[in-house]
Amino acid sequence: MNFLNKNILLCVTGGIAAYKSAEIIRLFKKNGADVRVVMTESAKEFITPLTLQAISGNEIHDSLLDVKAESAMGHIELAKWADIILVAPCTAETIAKITHGRANDLMGAIILASKASVFIAPAMNMNMWLDQSTQENCKKLSSRSISIIGPADGEQACGDIGPGRMVDPENIVELISSSIKIGPLAGKVITITAGPTREQIDPVRFISNNSSGKMGYALAEAAIESGALVNLISGPVSIDTNKSVSLYKINSANEMLEKVDELMPNTDIFIGCAAVSDFKPSHYYENKIKKEDLNVIDIELEKNEDILSHVAKVYKSSYVVGFAAETKNVKENARKKLLNKNLNMIISNDVSDKSIGFDSDQNEVNLITKSESIFLKKDKKIRIAREILKQISLNIN
Ligand code: PMT
Repeated sequence: MNFLNKNILLCVTGGIAAYKSAEIIRLFKKNGADVRVVMTESAKEFITPLTLQAISGNEIHDSLLDVKAESAMGHIELAKWADIILVAPCTAETIAKITHGRANDLMGAIILASKASVFIAPAMNMNMWLDQSTQENCKKLSSRSISIIGPADGEQACGDIGPGRMVDPENIVELISSSIKIGPLAGKVITITAGPTREQIDPVRFISNNSSGKMGYALAEAAIESGALVNLISGPVSIDTNKSVSLYKINSANEMLEKVDELMPNTDIFIGCAAVSDFKPSHYYENKIKKEDLNVIDIELEKNEDILSHVAKVYKSSYVVGFAAETKNVKENARKKLLNKNLNMIISNDVSDKSIGFDSDQNEVNLITKSESIFLKKDKKIRIAREILKQISLNIN
């Protein structure tokens, strides 16, 4: 089982099986998930919030109208945060409520607002389970892609024998694990650089380039989808990232290099997508250069260290992927970079074509290794990114 990078929201409702929710949390956490817990008022009659808080390591959420909770992580944030929502135990009342889209408490509002995969593990008396209204409700939920786990057959708390017991925690967690796609790079740590760097001349002026960060951020998104743990070292751009990405904002090439060195010892795959400034001013003016004082200004530039070459040279056990932004002889020049920088793979793009490359939502690339070359025709950057990650996973696995 692997729930690395998965945010799981466990909703506990008021049934005797609520005591088993502690074990569910433990199993999710043991397999890498971050777990948050929502409790209904009646759930608290069966197990204390303190117990679930201690096991999940996160504060319990229990109220839709709690000013404090709403300002920290309110229902919409929780709805967006969750990759998976599990309602366990799920009472007959809760099933009816979800079926009818009620949002008069925290759990109902979150389920309505969320795009996460929703699973419910019913637990109730067998006659309540077999009742026509519960059965019809469940049919509706299934048709809305809500997965129903169980219930199991057996002896019930009330003494009846039949269907209605909550499925055992181990089986619930296993079923969810096998129903979500665990990506081909699960457990791998990928460090990606994105965007431009800024090399300051004085406090208000700098040298930079046209990179928007879109390609690098798309790679980070695709890397998360493939199950990896993702570090994104980004120059100054304003793009939202997936919450599972560890984002490090930097300005200059030197700062980028420092962060790369900090993260590389624990990195399996490095992707250098940033448009790192090749040069920086040799001298930094502490105060703004006054234009009144000068007609001509000479700015001496010195070379920045090549971060990609440095990574390939120092961190030999990592798989290193570079990009090549070229305007002519695109493939040949990229191939030279692959060899000169001793990379495992290079992605070439023609940045003279305004419809791709810098700042466009699309790209068209050649993916080149020492033994093969794959052409990826013009497509959205996220699709190109997914294909790059797929090819990387095929090469390393
Ligand atoms: O950000 P977008 O607007 O989405 O645009 C995407 C992109 C065009 C920036 C991207 O697809 C791309 O091509 N990135 C690499 C840009 C670049 O600097 O290419 P280069 O050929 O000059 O450099 C080759 C490689 O060396 C790159 O992986 C670069 O990150 C790396 N490099 C360069 C200089 C330096 N000092 N250190 C480096 O690590």
